[in-house]
Amino acid sequence: MKKFFVTTPIYYLNGEPHLGHYYATTIADVLARYNRKFGSGAFFLTGTDEHGQKVADASKKDNLSPQEYTDKLSAIWEGVWKDLDISYDYFIRTTNPTHKVLCQVVIQKLLETNDIYPQEYEALYCVGAESFVTQSELRVGGLCPDHDEKPQIVLEKNYFFRLNKYKDRVLQLIEDGKINIIPESRRNEAIELLKNPEVGDFSVTREKVSWGIPVPFDTSQTLYVWIDALFNYMSGVLASQNIDIKDLSIGEILAKIGDIWPPDLQVMGKDILKFHAVYWPAFLLALGIPEENLPKTILITGFFLSDGRKMSKSIGNVIVPQDIITYFDEITDGLGNDILRYVILREMRIGNDGDITKEKIIGIYESELVNKFGNTFSRVIGMAKKYDVQVQPESSAVFQDYHNAFQKYDIYGAIHSIFEQINIIGQEIESHKPWELYKEGKTEELNTLMQNWLESLHQITEIIEPIMPSTANLMKRLLAGENIHIFPRIEK
Ligand code: MSP
Repeated sequence: MKKFFVTTPIYYLNGEPHLGHYYATTIADVLARYNRKFGSGAFFLTGTDEHGQKVADASKKDNLSPQEYTDKLSAIWEGVWKDLDISYDYFIRTTNPTHKVLCQVVIQKLLETNDIYPQEYEALYCVGAESFVTQSELRVGGLCPDHDEKPQIVLEKNYFFRLNKYKDRVLQLIEDGKINIIPESRRNEAIELLKNPEVGDFSVTREKVSWGIPVPFDTSQTLYVWIDALFNYMSGVLASQNIDIKDLSIGEILAKIGDIWPPDLQVMGKDILKFHAVYWPAFLLALGIPEENLPKTILITGFFLSDGRKMSKSIGNVIVPQDIITYFDEITDGLGNDILRYVILREMRIGNDGDITKEKIIGIYESELVNKFGNTFSRVIGMAKKYDVQVQPESSAVFQDYHNAFQKYDIYGAIHSIFEQINIIGQEIESHKPWELYKEGKTEELNTLMQNWLESLHQITEIIEPIMPSTANLMKRLLAGENIHIFPRIEK
């Protein structure tokens, strides 16, 4: 049976992960965990984007060769994701030999099918975005819209990809929902891009960037970092299975990864929509990949802002997840990571930007996790002990709202459905006043109520696991009678 294949963007190695990177990676992690627990299994791919001018420049600042630099930095990134319990199945680096071979097979094939052609040209290039920009996209002062940098003027011979040949087909696929883009506003943006005559053939090789994958048929060229990067989604699967692709056709390559390919869900930020919704499917179509084997859903997130601007290493306004996690780890029994997961997933409805501060995170922790979640949990368990109620943990109830939300990749909706259940328990405790039933000796009524609430808590423990795995473990221990505390108050 095909596994649920979920990807994050591969990250540039010019710093350490910050909250913006943590966000997309956490969304992918939740969906991988959900599908492992309730679906047909998952294959979760993440990794690092290691070629291009930006990484080469960063390595110089560190006095290392690009290879030494990427070895060092990718180990840091992988280490951070491991520390943060990100359950990826494979970590793809674009310096991986399988990846390089695949990219060379791809560019060779595009040449053979006449989908690329050489051309001299002059354009503006922003190294921060690793992207060509037009005059009209620039901010005041001639700066790139997302980076505080002036683009360079580039004059060189490149190979151009015939995007114009594929735009109508990609448009049709998006309009028919065969490529699904969430949220709706980003789907519309992709449609506009595909209808925009300015979005046309584009360069897929570079002449003056030596830190890149060599173009096999023209030694003056390396691959443009974006075509290189996008194919990580295929090479990552191949490398994870140790598949040797030398001398294989694209069809034969796909046949080897049929239990994983195509991606079911690709998560990313709004700045890289064009690459994934326009370029990526067009490349795959040019390779002759059938429509049913194209990526299924693209989920576009908003940005984490800091002082109203995109949180970004280039701008220097980043918050790293570890700072917040350490703070909460000290207050709770190692639940810092879960608390941060909860807050960002519940605070940023998919698609919207969000300004997150430590104060805001503390506020949400206190009002929701301490006062509602922890409090309800502790009350029910405390009463069960006091009134000596035992419960059979098995229950057949399904949380349909929760699963429906996951089918739409709506993690916020899934969290909401869990909290509705918590609220119901809280309201029932207030209206039934179990302490009075106990005093009055109404044991049967008390037992039935307690039994229901405990069963609900058992179910919540199960369904919260993809979202907050450590919390689920702690809840299991609590329900088994261990004397531990969940989500304590912050001492002032
Ligand atoms: N290397 C490319 C992606 C190639 S994927 C085939 C790249 N890397 S990146 O490191 O610059 O960004 C990776 C992802 O992090 C993007 O989806 C980007 O939107 C996301 N974020 C970076 N900063 C962000 C915020 N401040 N907020 C939310 N996500 C943002 O682009």
